[in-house]
Amino acid sequence: MRRFLPVPGGHPRRMRLLDNTLPLLLNGYAWLPGLRRRAGSDIVHTRVLGQRAVGLCGPDAARFFYDEEHVARRTALPGPIKSTLFGHGAVHTLDGPAHRLRKAMFMSLMTEDTIGSLTDHTLAAWDETVSSWPAGRDVVLFDEASRLLTRAVCRWAGVPLSDADVPAAASDLVAMVDGFGSAGRRHWRARLARRRREAWLAALITDARRGALTAPSGSAIDVVAHHEDVDGRRLEPRVAAVDLLNVLRPTVAICWFATFMAHALHRWPEHRARLTGAADSGAKAFPDAFSEAFVDEVRRFYPFTPFVGGRAVRDLSWRGEPIPAGALVLLDVYGQNHDSRLWAEPYRFDPDRFVGRRIGAFDLIPQGGGDANTGHRCPGEAIVITLMRVLAHRLAGLDYRVPEQDLTISLRRVPARMASGFVLRPERVRVSPATGSRSV
Ligand code: HEM
Repeated sequence: MRRFLPVPGGHPRRMRLLDNTLPLLLNGYAWLPGLRRRAGSDIVHTRVLGQRAVGLCGPDAARFFYDEEHVARRTALPGPIKSTLFGHGAVHTLDGPAHRLRKAMFMSLMTEDTIGSLTDHTLAAWDETVSSWPAGRDVVLFDEASRLLTRAVCRWAGVPLSDADVPAAASDLVAMVDGFGSAGRRHWRARLARRRREAWLAALITDARRGALTAPSGSAIDVVAHHEDVDGRRLEPRVAAVDLLNVLRPTVAICWFATFMAHALHRWPEHRARLTGAADSGAKAFPDAFSEAFVDEVRRFYPFTPFVGGRAVRDLSWRGEPIPAGALVLLDVYGQNHDSRLWAEPYRFDPDRFVGRRIGAFDLIPQGGGDANTGHRCPGEAIVITLMRVLAHRLAGLDYRVPEQDLTISLRRVPARMASGFVLRPERVRVSPATGSRSV
């Protein structure tokens, strides 16, 4: 169905544009690619949430989008997304020097040593979790991964969390991601989860500032608690909590990729042996090109971020098409990750496409494009890649069966989530001679 109606004269400014919010909610990841396909163009004009919007796709579009002279973020994110996914006052909503200073705080957490330490916490949590699984009884990988990632990231971040409190915290951190793209019950669950967790972390940050909580030096809670913004003042406890959540929440969201990796290993088991061939002892032990290629292909192939958005800072034009000041500019992430001009046979899962390939800063954009230090590209990409590599290795080495279940991943649901959460049945428990730990 055509969603924008050209009027005589054909100029996009003079088109009568129908609001596309409902088709967006109904079609999810296929919405922008569908609009572009029907328009036969990498740029489409539409309306969402009653506002003028322009959808763009491709590496050139990404380069255009990530230029601060073109697109700003301050007023672009709708309230419902701030109240669920990102939080009010988040770094995602800043521009210019305020953005760069806050972003530097996130980037300071991304050193080789800190990522190595988070990886070690994750491997330890994985081993603890797996050794608790009774052989022969089904477990849901999505739930297990969300809990072990919660335990690992909280230990790493200096956020005290007892084992008994892990399931509730994991469930809230997952809910904030799960509910941002929907309008009903999932959305309200996400709002409640955010409110609860912001209050929890704001209190911990206040404690860390007055010395009532010992925050290990350089830990995420310590860095966020003592960060000074452009006005030279510490963040309001509630805003500091938002930023700390913007480390914890997306790290736990790697559970989505864990189930996608399990799905890929189930559908294409030939990759398993190549992953288990990698060495097995911590963060720096995965130098092989294949595990990185596998992880990149999972991030490209499976649906997670549908698009990213900002607002045109002035009247602009892209490839001769006008984009009026104030229009929403949406960069089609899912569409670009499945564009046959960039990726041969894009709907074929093929990690080898990445072996030996140099990836440009605007080519593979599941976590945004450009330079994370200066732009809005995700600062956590190195964490995601490293943790996915070690989890891929652990998963590939597990001995389990995949019982009958619904492995559907609907592109209509944002964020996409496997219907069953990937149920696996551990086959047998064995003890690792090197560590003495039990594994399945
Ligand atoms: C589950 C895997 C993840 C995915 C799919 C993901 C995806 C993204 C995307 C698409 C963006 C927006 C880019 C843009 O607006 O142009 C983003 C931004 C961001 N991500 Fe991630 N991310 C993930 C993990 C992480 C992790 C582990 C962290 C932190 C440790 C993190 C922290 C952030 C922050 C703070 C921003 C805002 C950056 C800015 O506005 O400058 N993310 N992420």
